Amino acid sequence: MAGRPRVVVTRRLPGPVEAKLTEAFDTVLNVEDRALTPDELAEAVRSADALLPTVTDRITAEVLSAEPRRTAIVANFGVGYNNIDIAAAKANGVVVTNTPDVLTDCTADTAMTLLLSVARRAGEGERQLRAGAWTGWRPTHLLGTKVTGKTLGIVGMGRIGRAVARRAHHGFGMRILYFEPFPVPETEIAGLDAQRVDSLEELLAGSDFVSLHCPATPETHHLINAETLGTMKPGAFLINSARGDVVDEAALVEALGAGTIAGAGLDVYEGEPRVSPGLLEMENVVLFPHLGSATKETRVAMGLRAFENLLAFFRGDRPRDRVN
Ligand code: 8YV
Repeated sequence: MAGRPRVVVTRRLPGPVEAKLTEAFDTVLNVEDRALTPDELAEAVRSADALLPTVTDRITAEVLSAEPRRTAIVANFGVGYNNIDIAAAKANGVVVTNTPDVLTDCTADTAMTLLLSVARRAGEGERQLRAGAWTGWRPTHLLGTKVTGKTLGIVGMGRIGRAVARRAHHGFGMRILYFEPFPVPETEIAGLDAQRVDSLEELLAGSDFVSLHCPATPETHHLINAETLGTMKPGAFLINSARGDVVDEAALVEALGAGTIAGAGLDVYEGEPRVSPGLLEMENVVLFPHLGSATKETRVAMGLRAFENLLAFFRGDRPRDRVN
């Protein structure tokens, strides 16, 4: 390749990350910070050696097969990479990397924030106060659900699921159940007294809170649907900081409306940034705009991790976080 590799960065990144990228590569920044169109992404595949996309960019088979293709690596900004057609990347010989580890703690913190907020009716209380509708303290005002000592069911006991389990168990004395099709090393869950269950139904039926931490794959698409929601305890809460696709959002709206479950804390949605209108009207849901990893420290660390993956690739090494 003649000269420095050209890298198209699809959204604004924290300053220190953009500075490093600009220093090392012929970097094209998205100064307008708007999501690129499919045509613009295809043009980037034709004109740049690397893409650094985010969850808002759909790197489809069509985008990846733009001719003549120049892009050899897609260094995703994020641990989840369901925005990228991995099979098409493989077929086109395009390397894909992600940014694991560095966002584990902050994403787990977000899941706990949602859990506590929905259980203790924090959103409702804040809305009431800001609307000037708080009439003063009284023993029966906005009574929520106690968290300490309750059972938390974790779907997907990977890095983030385990970080949530640690917070819930050590911080709130919660009993942990988990459903995970892959082996989980004993050392990773030592001291949590976490009980593995054999089926999703068993997990849902036995949990006061259910938190989703599985990737979005064809197997996990609508894992939480009308039928599985029906197996949850009527007083239970659903927390989703994984991916919107894991939950059938229409079925969730129904279940919340019918009182099948008590409430939900959501950070992700099926059609982001669109949110089902039904959810917006409900008091028993807490809704975050995909804030999972949104701290200054973590977003810098994610950017640097993507940067290191690009550096390794253009040095001729295997990037640490290659996923395909
Ligand atoms: C990111 C996330 O902000 O890493 C992930 O999988 O969901 C978020 O933490 C997002 O992916 C950015 O592209």
